Amino acid sequence: MLPSPVSLAPDPADRLILALDRPDASSALALATAIPGLRWVKVGLELFTAAGPEVVNLLRECGLRVFLDLKFHDIPATMAGACRSAARLGAELITVHSAAGSEALAAAQAAALEGAAAEGLTAPTLLAVTVLTSWDPGRFASELAIAEPVPDHVARLAALAAGAGIGGVVCSPLEAAALRARHPEPFVLVTPGIRPAGADRGDQQRVTTPAEALAAGASRLVIGRPIAAAADPATAFAACCAELAAAGF
Ligand code: C5P
Repeated sequence: MLPSPVSLAPDPADRLILALDRPDASSALALATAIPGLRWVKVGLELFTAAGPEVVNLLRECGLRVFLDLKFHDIPATMAGACRSAARLGAELITVHSAAGSEALAAAQAAALEGAAAEGLTAPTLLAVTVLTSWDPGRFASELAIAEPVPDHVARLAALAAGAGIGGVVCSPLEAAALRARHPEPFVLVTPGIRPAGADRGDQQRVTTPAEALAAGASRLVIGRPIAAAADPATAFAACCAELAAAGF
């Protein structure tokens, strides 16, 4: 018998990754578990440095999928070791810097697969960071002595990562359409810088709504403060899901 159409319907919650930018494990867990239907969380440098790998275990025990956003950038052997360890923890998305170069990226990718296989876990997707969106183009050119325009440099570093076998990139939603044109699915595009209609921009300058980012080709969206700092995070999360469902995602 064919599965019912309902089971084939996309689930907007699967597209949303909540950034747990919290200083300790207990507040991160309190936030994550207060949101019914939440599937994905992002553990970044602040939380991981404070709470350690155990926080990944605790989140996974709550049934959550973990994006470990530690932006590894080192020599090939160290990148490989870090990605092997991250995969063994059960992180399903892991960030590395493209600027580490193709040898390090390929070593990281191979080691992540080994690490997951050693634990009988699903192979994680490595995501390359290209040019951090906090760079001002003028300072990027002068401080790093890189003459290439930032969008071209982003495209170069994304192609470098893809060529090394990395499964996706983290990018601005405003870069998503150009990257998607060059890197069709299943290459993964994860975009922060998301603000639902009417939300405060905070320190994010170049933002789009969740539906705009997905329409531009993003695979999954990272959202932090519009949900985490809302008076009622569960309601804010549900509103994001409803916005995506209304847009056909
Ligand atoms: O609160 P907000 O929605 O701005 O949070 C976005 C999350 O995505 C934060 O964890 C931030 O560190 C991360 N991020 C970003 N821009 C990038 C890369 C990561 O905002 N270019």
